[in-house]
Amino acid sequence: MITDHETEALAPLRVGMTTQPIPPPSILVIFGATGDLTHRKLLPALFDLFCDGKLPEGFTVLGYARRQKSDDEFRADLRDSVRLFARHNPGDNERWNKFAAGLYYHQAEFTDPSSCHPLADRLRQLDAARGTQGNRLFYLATAPEFYASLVTQLGDARLNSQDHGWARIIIEKPFGVDLMSAHKLNRHILSVFDESQIYRIDHYLGKETVQNIFAFRFANTILEPIWNRNYVDHVQVTAAESVGVEERGGYYDSAGALRDMMQSHLLQLVSLTAMEPPVSFDATSVHDEKIKVLRAICEMKGMDIDQMAVRGQYGAGQNLAAYRDEPRVARSSTTETFAALKLRIDNWRWAGVPFYLRTGKRMPRRATEIRIMFKPVPHPLFAQEVARGIEPNVLAIRIQPDEGIHLKVAAKEPGQTNQLRDVRMDFYYKTAFGGAPGEAYETLLIDTMRGDSTLFNRKDEVEAAWSLITPILEYWQNTAPTDFPNYAAGTWGPSAANDLLARDRRQWHNP
Ligand code: BG6
Repeated sequence: MITDHETEALAPLRVGMTTQPIPPPSILVIFGATGDLTHRKLLPALFDLFCDGKLPEGFTVLGYARRQKSDDEFRADLRDSVRLFARHNPGDNERWNKFAAGLYYHQAEFTDPSSCHPLADRLRQLDAARGTQGNRLFYLATAPEFYASLVTQLGDARLNSQDHGWARIIIEKPFGVDLMSAHKLNRHILSVFDESQIYRIDHYLGKETVQNIFAFRFANTILEPIWNRNYVDHVQVTAAESVGVEERGGYYDSAGALRDMMQSHLLQLVSLTAMEPPVSFDATSVHDEKIKVLRAICEMKGMDIDQMAVRGQYGAGQNLAAYRDEPRVARSSTTETFAALKLRIDNWRWAGVPFYLRTGKRMPRRATEIRIMFKPVPHPLFAQEVARGIEPNVLAIRIQPDEGIHLKVAAKEPGQTNQLRDVRMDFYYKTAFGGAPGEAYETLLIDTMRGDSTLFNRKDEVEAAWSLITPILEYWQNTAPTDFPNYAAGTWGPSAANDLLARDRRQWHNP
């Protein structure tokens, strides 16, 4: 047993951490319960919440999918996934059995118009058995083509009603494939559910480090005076993945990096970095400020796109297969596995400060980072040292892995010399608070139970993000790349991505 004193020594900020109130009991219906998301993310997150005592008594999961399965078979499959992907070990029978007693399975087709009526009956029975008070969460974790039909069925079975308890719907990304489809999907869901019942997921918003951007920016007065065009030279956002497309070639080949990462995760990181302070931390105030950033980003059109956007696809390298040789990928695919953009935010705070974004698969390592690159000193007192390649005045917000924040400043080397060195001031979550932060889905699932949509996308945000990305998608579709594959697996992307910054006399800093 570790005492408080020992905890303080190991992770000084852990002591005195607050805990959130436990949400009311509910049933979570997961459509697509035999899929990857349920097994790798949702159930492991729920089990971890359960082990940490954060789930309400009676909390119930009803897995909904097409395969025939008994409740017990479903529980056994989930135990295997939890063993692989959760923080806590389900090896302890008593703990697992208590959790598993709240797991049920419901077999049905996603497109059968009558299938939600038996679901409604099953939910009523579970309410009675488990004391869940008519509170329901419907999680759409199927392939996106089933979203519209499932929403219609929920409406037909009156499962959108909040007469007895609450009803909320959680929608996994991708939310549409372009502006028009996102708009159509929004209209359809809003014909059945009210906006206050809808939770559009972008799991990056559930990451502890991403949420900390709020706290870091708005709880520290020393940053605000320099967080603008007067002091910031430019911003770099990198989301690099070392993995390829793994088992998801079928989906990915029709999506690509721009849809899969840029439209959602990277634009979210930009919104949080660039937004004005909200008047409060309620969902509406936060969304209102984030949407202003998206609206202030200049849309790229036509030939601009050649200057401001770069696409790439990985070829073979470091004993790794080329994208075109991955399972379920077309042999002549022109889908981009890398994308880089230069964004301009035309508002008072950021005019003239470029935001460079890049994301790619099969890069040298997994690293997501926001780098605020401050302007150099105005008078070149130490010009030689700068020429020698030191890089001070950088604030790096490390989203993953090694979550933390680092400030790089120049310092004099000891001794009779004027030599400068970069030194880093570091904050690591792990050492400060003890243990890596929890999984994004834990936060997001609990927030849906508590009815807090701050960390979810509002209708207008999703559409504003698509309206920035859709012209690029269309332009790329009409101008097939001639140089794919143009980067080797295990490298930092095509040379055109370096040219994007070199034209502005800048360079990427690899996290
Ligand atoms: C998902 C994308 O939204 O995010 C995946 O569809 C990507 O292609 C993943 O791998 C990255 O998430 P994380 O949390 O591992 O950075």
